[in-house]
Amino acid sequence: MVRWGQLFARQAPTGPTAAPRAQVLGTWALVAMGIGATIGSGIFVTTGQVAATVAGPGVVLSYLVAGGACLLAALCYAEFAALHPSGGSAYSYAYATLGELCAWVIGWDLVLEYGVAGSIVAVGWSEHFVQLLQSLGVRVPAALVAPVNVPAALVMAAITAVLIRGVEESARTNTVVVAVKLGVVLFVLLVGVGFVDRVNWVSFPPPGDPAGSGFLPFGWAGVMTGAAMVFFAYIGFDAVSTHAEEAIDPGRSLPRGILVSLVVCTVLYIAVAAVLVGMVPWVRIAPLAPVAAAFAGVGMPWAAVVIDFGALAGMTSVLLVTFSGQARIFRAMARDGLLPKGLFAAEHPKFRTPVRSLVLTGTVAGLTAALVPHGVLLEMVSIGTLMAFAIVCAAVMVLRTTHPGAARPFRCPAVYVVAPLGIFVNAAMMVALPVETWLRLVVWLVVGLGVYFGYGARHSAARRRGSGPGGAPGPDRP
Ligand code: ALA
Repeated sequence: MVRWGQLFARQAPTGPTAAPRAQVLGTWALVAMGIGATIGSGIFVTTGQVAATVAGPGVVLSYLVAGGACLLAALCYAEFAALHPSGGSAYSYAYATLGELCAWVIGWDLVLEYGVAGSIVAVGWSEHFVQLLQSLGVRVPAALVAPVNVPAALVMAAITAVLIRGVEESARTNTVVVAVKLGVVLFVLLVGVGFVDRVNWVSFPPPGDPAGSGFLPFGWAGVMTGAAMVFFAYIGFDAVSTHAEEAIDPGRSLPRGILVSLVVCTVLYIAVAAVLVGMVPWVRIAPLAPVAAAFAGVGMPWAAVVIDFGALAGMTSVLLVTFSGQARIFRAMARDGLLPKGLFAAEHPKFRTPVRSLVLTGTVAGLTAALVPHGVLLEMVSIGTLMAFAIVCAAVMVLRTTHPGAARPFRCPAVYVVAPLGIFVNAAMMVALPVETWLRLVVWLVVGLGVYFGYGARHSAARRRGSGPGGAPGPDRP
């Protein structure tokens, strides 16, 4: 199915905006992007929700399980990203191995991961911004957030403007913002650890809880439900792979960027969760602002300001990297003829960024955030991401079978164990999601197929080359 020469060929640039793209992102910039895209509000909010409602101190294990599931997918992503460095990420990997139709489905599915996650984070950003202003004594009129969410719209406009300025500018901004949020996470860890009471870790049976006691008050079932809930906090590390075209020495830097950022985030998540459930008996954890409340409980109410600031920084970098990832995936799809090139692949003459695509994505994400309930969006993001992870795990095995001799700068260790396990774990988390979420996914995919057969199949570059839909991939690097 794969035409290997085409897969790796680089088309001669044509047209006025086709100067060679600068490869400016080294390993550390990519690690910063991975951390930037991953640590958002999840660490400060979801941790407490899971501990208070389903896992107790076992939330630490929930993070470990979800991190392990992500690591399985990350190893497969790393092999693909090194082998086929393409801004289309999972879309391009599927194009290379499973054919055009399957690639379209995954590309359409990735909109759920990147575009919809961006909408959720923009609204979360607005909530934390208002909270921060209020804790600084500034009265925020209700009209500022409803019916039109002004801070969410403004942050998206600012993010779009930074992204249009170019990848180097965005990476610099991201690195600064990541440094700020890591500073706040370290503050929580280093100060919080002094208030840990180890009794909270090992034994705090809730009164009348029939399910168990101690570290696993809700048993392993609670840990697993918690893992599905904290999965949102891990979404983002794979966005490193969408910056393949701007990576220096992508065969090495991409796998490192993906894996190092995931490991760093996993360690920090587990550490923050351990500190939180060590500071406060889990039955007393405040589900809404758990970390800030824990510090207020030990006589440091001002820490809420620091934590809100860290959450704002976290969400800013998540927005930066996910929106730029979404634009890159659209660009890869447009180059293959599946989306209108004029809209999704056209670049700014000076900054060389997909300006129209960025503006369109920002606008649609803003409208989605304003119109669709949050819970629905959250579950759609999770199911979309889990499906992408499972498909990448499958695709890496397909390519090992069809092209065993291809030079792989990074090889997923024990791929025939890691990849099937990755499919199993990610599919199991999908199964744990409510049936309505599955129905919404089906509706979303049916709409996507309508767009494919209405536009993509008729404009497909593969079809024009005569290889037919579902055939060989075309080069998608400029
Ligand atoms: N992982 C990102 C967050 O936790 C989406 O906000």
